[in-house]
Amino acid sequence: MVLTALGAGVLLPLCAAKPADTLTLEDKVNFVVGTQRDYIYRPDAAPGMPLRVQGDTDDPRGATAFSEGPVKGAAGETYDLTSKGLPPIVMADGPAGVRIDAVREGDSATYYCTAFPCATLLASSWNIPLVEEVGDAIGNEARHYGVDILLAPAMNIMRSPLCGRNFEYYSEDPFLTGKTAAAYVRGVQRNGVGATLKHFAANNQETMRNGIDVVVSDRALRDIYLEGFRIAVAESNPAAVMSAYNKVNGKLMAENRYLLTDILRGEWGFDGFVMTDWWGEGNGARQLAAGNDMLMPGTWRQYDEIMEAIAEGRFTEQQLDSNVAAIKRVASLYRGACDNAPDLKAHAAVARRAATDGMVLLENRDRALPIAKGSKIALFGNAGYDTFVGGTGSGNVNRAYKVDIAEGLVNAGYNLDRLTADGYAARLARFKEGREADDMWNVAVAPEYLLTENEISRAAADNDIAVLVVSRMAGESADRTLTPGDWFLSDTERANISNVSRIFHEARKPVAVLLNMGSVVEMESWKDMPDAILHVWLPGQEAGNAVADVLSGDVTPSGRLPMTIARRYEDYGSAANFPNSENAATVYYTDDIFVGYRHFDNSGIEPLYPFGYGLSYTTFEYTAPVVTMREDGALDIELDVTNTGSVPGADVVKVYRQYPRGAEPSFDIIEGSEIYVNPEVDPTNPVMPVRELKAYAKTDVLAPGQTRRIKLTLK
Ligand code: BGC
Repeated sequence: MVLTALGAGVLLPLCAAKPADTLTLEDKVNFVVGTQRDYIYRPDAAPGMPLRVQGDTDDPRGATAFSEGPVKGAAGETYDLTSKGLPPIVMADGPAGVRIDAVREGDSATYYCTAFPCATLLASSWNIPLVEEVGDAIGNEARHYGVDILLAPAMNIMRSPLCGRNFEYYSEDPFLTGKTAAAYVRGVQRNGVGATLKHFAANNQETMRNGIDVVVSDRALRDIYLEGFRIAVAESNPAAVMSAYNKVNGKLMAENRYLLTDILRGEWGFDGFVMTDWWGEGNGARQLAAGNDMLMPGTWRQYDEIMEAIAEGRFTEQQLDSNVAAIKRVASLYRGACDNAPDLKAHAAVARRAATDGMVLLENRDRALPIAKGSKIALFGNAGYDTFVGGTGSGNVNRAYKVDIAEGLVNAGYNLDRLTADGYAARLARFKEGREADDMWNVAVAPEYLLTENEISRAAADNDIAVLVVSRMAGESADRTLTPGDWFLSDTERANISNVSRIFHEARKPVAVLLNMGSVVEMESWKDMPDAILHVWLPGQEAGNAVADVLSGDVTPSGRLPMTIARRYEDYGSAANFPNSENAATVYYTDDIFVGYRHFDNSGIEPLYPFGYGLSYTTFEYTAPVVTMREDGALDIELDVTNTGSVPGADVVKVYRQYPRGAEPSFDIIEGSEIYVNPEVDPTNPVMPVRELKAYAKTDVLAPGQTRRIKLTLK
């Protein structure tokens, strides 16, 4: 048996690969063009979304050429060249778990996958080993189900809080993004499954995503939009990269040689393969020439374009050979046996623990949280009873179940107010009656119910605390909007928060609001009404149990915001040109490098909750950091963190590089858990951000009184 070493050092048996027979030109072109060529891309479908009707193509080759592939519901696969030693390579989404069909026709077995917490929650944990563990569990599931290449992590920068796919992405900051992505990739690839960094690059909005021209300076591109990808390539050796749909500075990303070849391979030394995003624009031969190796999920048009270009000498068979070789090299590493029997129970436990680690406590006046077990809770808001556990689109996961917040609270031993619960259950059932079941693209969102004063007063008399859930659904192919019910609270939501807070406070009972969404909403106008606010994101299938773990204090919240929450939408650097118009062909990144906190810092705008913010049920103290300079100029920073409170908890220490305004360089500025290191200002680059995140670490859970030494290196 041949053993092969994978990225993380694990040895797996390599499937007995037949030596490749000589491939014909047709074989090679078939190999680099995906197999779903008998699906048609319908112009009347939503932007970027083909209407997947198999066999519905004008091309006579289409209807008979392919079967669906070995793993039903996988996003794509390579052409079956088993007879020549190249069995199909199977690719499946996505960031929060493997997306394949859970049931197959004529097959009584099920193929459910675990819905893990959304990417934003993972980044909010600032917990590199934990993200690696989640990646490991997802990779393990992929391996068991016969998926060779996972189409994740998605790691575009959150330029605007309104991007519909933010829940699939990590942060507004490239360092946090890159570190989180690298950890995820290392975990996935440990299982002999390749990971894919996507969407490369500057795919920061869904509006017009198939051709929007992102006009951005080279500096912003490198410092903000590419930096996370660069870190992940350097630190995790990913199998694949997916080129994005959009244009960058006038050139489609899928045809962008500067980015795909000069930078990705040339400067960074990436040696995996590059694939296009599904049904993206572009000419097949130009896509390959620019640096893609695989065109997904494949069209006959691309096949013909490559053949024509070779016949006319615009593209050579030698170039094609190097594409084939790149894919084969990766495929030889990421293969293995599949038994369709992952340990879903063990993975659910990982999903639950991870979910608790990334929830962010934004407010906790008068220690409203935690809530003693056995307390009586009046739970308001639709998502309390029908919790959003993930977003829509390709990041969706076909899970076996989900635990709603109400169920999780009951599991934890709380007494839920029956009348309130029954009211919500009945209204949600009525809303769903006669409606089509939700699918990966569509989730019908029930309107919130306007609670009457009588109902609230009765609930306040009968219960110890009110928990009110504010929720938003979003996903692939559309951005969110600056409207009530989306960025803003709807009138009903506002009235409910205000009335519940007033009436419960009159009864001297606290109110906690949970945010159940992949991004954020306007909060300035209402955040002082409740006593506590906990951002639970889209916490995956164990949502309710994880929420109960944190509300009860079984787990002390330790998540920190991976994005700034502004007082007003207009405060975001992207607000002036984040287009919501379907007619916009170009988006000018006039915010340049000033994305997220870099903009707030440099413009002196005070955010509502800054990047990195998050409260705890306990308190921490820090020793002054000891900074030693290494010979290569890197700084080693060490400090002690002590849990000075009365309950166990974990903390995050962050190191920022700070660019002083006219001040002498200095070290050792520490504010709480944030350390600032001032380098010399680069005189050639006078417009510097006030600070940039350069290192961070999370402690393990420290018992009261316990101290942990943290060591960080600033390169
Ligand atoms: C998405 C990708 C995804 C692919 C395959 C595209 O619409 O942009 O993120 O991996 O579909 O499902």
